Order: sequence, then C-alpha cells, then structure tokens
Amino acid sequence: MPAPFFPTTRFTAATAPGGLPLLGHALALLRRPHDFVAGLPAHGDLVRLRLGPLHAYVVCHPELVRRLLTEDRVFDKGGPLLDKAREVFGNGLATCPAADHRRQRRLLQPAFHRDRLPGYAAGMADEIAGTTAPWRDGDLIDVPATMHRLTTAVTARCLFAAHERAGKLPVHASMDAVTRGVGRRVLLPLPGADRLPTPGNRRFRRARRDLREITRRLVADHRATGTDRHDLLSVLLAATDEDGRGLSAAEIHEQVVTFLLAGTEATAATLSWAWTLLAANPAVRERLHAELDTVLDGRPARHEDLPALPLTARIVSETLRLYPPPWILSRTATADTELGGHHLPAGATLLVSPYLLHRRADLFPRPDRFDPDRWLTTASPAPGTYTPFGLGARRCIGDAFGTTEAVLAIATIAARWTITPTPGRPVRPARSASLAPRPFTATLTRRAR
Ligand code: HEM
Repeated sequence: MPAPFFPTTRFTAATAPGGLPLLGHALALLRRPHDFVAGLPAHGDLVRLRLGPLHAYVVCHPELVRRLLTEDRVFDKGGPLLDKAREVFGNGLATCPAADHRRQRRLLQPAFHRDRLPGYAAGMADEIAGTTAPWRDGDLIDVPATMHRLTTAVTARCLFAAHERAGKLPVHASMDAVTRGVGRRVLLPLPGADRLPTPGNRRFRRARRDLREITRRLVADHRATGTDRHDLLSVLLAATDEDGRGLSAAEIHEQVVTFLLAGTEATAATLSWAWTLLAANPAVRERLHAELDTVLDGRPARHEDLPALPLTARIVSETLRLYPPPWILSRTATADTELGGHHLPAGATLLVSPYLLHRRADLFPRPDRFDPDRWLTTASPAPGTYTPFGLGARRCIGDAFGTTEAVLAIATIAARWTITPTPGRPVRPARSASLAPRPFTATLTRRAR
C-alpha cells in the first residue's frame, strides 16, 4: 500500500448543519445536490448526514478517501444506491460484493488488456464517422442523446461485436428508462412504492424485460456464428469455473447489462459536458482546433494519433475533473471499524464524492475554472485527490477504453464541426446518480479550415 501522502494524523468529524426534523438533510440533497455536497468539507473531514431514517458519512479528506477505496473488504460496495442498482445489475462486476470481485475481475480483465485498444479504437472511429455522416451545416441536435447513441453503438460494437445490429437494438431507450428508474427508486420514500402500477414503474419493468431480450439476442447471435472474437462476450461465453461449468444465462445477462450501462453513460456525459465547456471557452477551443488541424489535417483521428493530441487529452481530464459522471460512490462498513480515528459501526454507509474532491480549492486552485493547462504543471495528484475513475480494486475497468473513446470523438468531431449550445438556455446537471447534463440542443457549424 502506498505511504499516505498527507502527513495529517488527526481528522475532524462533524454532523452537517441544517438538518430538518424527520427529513434530515434529504431535502438539501434533493434540491441542490452538487452544491450541498461540495460545501461539506467546510464542516470536517468526515461529515455525517441524516437522510430520513438513514445515516451516511461523507468522506471529504483525500487520505481518508484513499483508505476507504483501497480497503475494499472492510468498506465493501453497499448502501441504498447499490441495493437498488442490484435490482438491475444483480451480481455483475460493478455491484458484486468483494467476496466475488477478484474472481470476476480476473475473468473479465483480458477483454480490457492494453493490446486490445487499437482494435477497439478502429471500431470507435467507424462509429464516430457513422454518427456524424448525416450531419448538415446548421442542424440542431440534442447533444446528450446524440452522444449517448454514439457511446452505446461503440460499446455494442467493441464489447459485443454487435455492430451490424446495434442500431436496431432498443438499447438506448432501455438503458435510459432503467437509469432513471434506479435513481427514482432510491429516492422513493414509501416501502413498496416501487411495486405500484405507476407509469414510471411500468416503464422500468418494460425496460428490464427489453434488456433481457437484448442479451438473449446478442448471445444467440454470438453462439450461431461460433467464432471467438476475443471481445467481452466471447470471454463471458468461454468462462468456466473449477468444475468446468460455464456461466449461467443469468450471470451472463448481469455482466452484459453492467457493461452496457457502465460503458456508455459516463463517456456520453463526459462528451456532452466537453462540448459545453469548449463553447464557453473559445480561447481553449481555438487552441484545440490548431492542434487538430496540425495533426489530422481534416481526417478522422486514429489510435496512433493519441500521443500527438495532448491538449485534447487534457481537455478530457479537465472535463472529468469538473464533471465526474459517477459523482458519488457508496460503500458499507462490513464490521465495526474506524476511519481517521473515528468509530464506524458495522453497516454504516459511507459516501465518497469525486465532485466534492475535484472542487476543493486547496487541492485544485480556482476549482470552478475550466483550465486544461492545469494538467501541464500539476505533478500526478496525490491518491484520493483526482478520482474520476475511482481507486483501488474497484477502479474503473474501462478507464483507458473510455478515455480513448472520448479523445477520438472530440478530436474527430471538433476537427470538422463547431457545436454551439442554444443561447439563453443554461445547461444544467440532471439530479441523478450520474452527473450528466439535462437534455440540451446545439447548432452544428461546419468548420472552414
Ligand atoms: C469517462 C468514462 C468513465 C468514467 C468517468 C468511469 C468511472 C468509473 C468509476 C468512478 C468507477 C468506480 C465506481 C466505484 O468505485 O464505486 C467505475 C467502475 C467501473 N466502470 Fe467505469 N467509467 C468510465 C467508462 C467506463 C467504460 C467505457 C466501461 C466499460 C467499457 C466501464 C466499466 C466499468 C465497470 C465494469 C466498473 C466496475 C469495476 C469493478 O468494480 O471492478 N467504465 N467507472
């Protein structure tokens, strides 16, 4: 384990002020979630919240964040958000407990080996070209929906070799209904409310059914061709346990749905935010255009271009600092334990917010400013400081995949198009477990070089 970077041995703990009778801090968290959470370090390194009958501790200090995320057997995946997410993703890689995690991660890791990236990048380039092919000068697009369709097509193609059919599968609509459904279910105050025949619940259940059908078709297609394409689905279908048994249909389904969601949501949100940040910072955009004109000269970006696109890469890092899509991560203490010298009972819910850490002025000077060049001068941030991909054993398995996809998409699209959000309608974050923008439109302008 790396030595603690922060020499502090004393960490402060407090209860967040402003809790209401019965509701506690739930209302503040619902009304202005991001500002509320970003303000918590002012009260302590470990800040207790009351959410109705539940208590949760928000870990605000990077050293405690490092400990929490790296001690994954003491602080296991858990908490109310995770429990609801398990209704959809079951025991897939992102939601399984630590006891299952090592085995699953070892099984799936080969699909994310560094050597696989150039092949994936070729698929990404094709899907980016397919997305922009119908664009015309002056078109108005719904940016988050367009980016989401792009990242869904990339995931379906690269991880499930389903590119011929990806466009025909209702993946995009189903994932959307499921993510919204999970978010709403966490916030539903009444026990059993998620079983009522409301339109939202019906949509959620239909989407879950559709996803089962999508997995069934992907697996059936894959088995019909009988070829090992070295993608994630091939790995899943070839996997066997010590007794030579393969994964059950339910286990395969849980992993497919996990990767369809994890592989698409965060990258789509990153791309959507990047377009708003570039539009609001024309000086950075001009420098980006200069980089792209020099390196690409009008052609689409390829994997081998990545080392020559350092500003594009810094734009992605800085977008992820300002808007880390999984902006709040949750864990449960598996036994009575301590963190920063403070007792935590078994079952305690702990929350880590990359958003909170990334907006701390003591860690990132002028934190609200979009400044890709801060990544030129900053030495590697201390562990627990910059955490868009998490940390430790549960760190994102698709970090290089997602970053490559984001850099290729920004480079290829910005080389030929300027995306200008419709003026007078500020882009706001959705109130959800993922820090994604609400739907917004933008005008496409073909660049004259
Ligand atoms: C910009 C893009 C992405 C961001 C910001 C991101 C962020 C994260 C974060 C913060 C975690 C850790 C969650 C936790 O500790 O509770 C995570 C886990 C995960 N991510 Fe990503 N992710 C991205 C792209 C992807 C892609 C492209 C894939 C798949 C192709 C993917 C698959 C996963 C999976 C399966 C996990 C669970 C890993 C485990 O528990 O072993 N992610 N991601």
